[in-house]
Amino acid sequence: MKKLEEYVRSIPDFPEPGIIFRDVTSILQDADGLKLAVDSMQALLEDTDADVIVGTESRGFIFGAPIAYNLHKPLVLVRKKGKLPCETVEKSYDLEYGSATIEMHKDSIKPGQKVVIVDDLIATGGTIEAAAKLVEELGGTVVKVIFLMELEGLKGRERLKGYDVESVIKYQ
Ligand code: PRP
Ligand code: ADE
Repeated sequence: MKKLEEYVRSIPDFPEPGIIFRDVTSILQDADGLKLAVDSMQALLEDTDADVIVGTESRGFIFGAPIAYNLHKPLVLVRKKGKLPCETVEKSYDLEYGSATIEMHKDSIKPGQKVVIVDDLIATGGTIEAAAKLVEELGGTVVKVIFLMELEGLKGRERLKGYDVESVIKYQ
């Protein structure tokens, strides 16, 4: 049986010179890779008591949805600005390349709910720091943040100091 790391294709200089892009599609397009990825992420939640799973657009949706389904928990979407139709809260942040603004529906988290945030990858941590702030603005508590891949050299974990962060595959 192949290890999860072996499913990840790494592309140098994409989308910009100097970036090594860790491609999630090479995991997803293999049924064993997809199952191993979802199961490995879900295993990180064995001791976690959550009310809601939050997934961040777009690659966070891929893993947030099956985990929420398997755990029979609601799935809340953090979307890029302009996609959500009802009242939202929003936050802007910088990425490894570029910047973005994300939004959540105001009614998606109830005060006091315990929230797990799911994404495919942590680079600078900007996306998840912004997502966690939105969850907190709505009165939720972030009890855990999980990733499939972590780019340790970019020190995203330091940016998420104070949160319980776990990842399956770690790159320098
Ligand atoms: C990527 C990735 C994470 C984020 C990581 O998403 O899926 O969400 O960047 O970077 P950070 O830790 O520096 O915030 P991206 O915004 O490129 O959107 P996509 O999933 O739609 O490709
Ligand atoms: N998102 C931010 N940085 C990334 C990288 N190096 N590979 C894949 N997705 C990313």
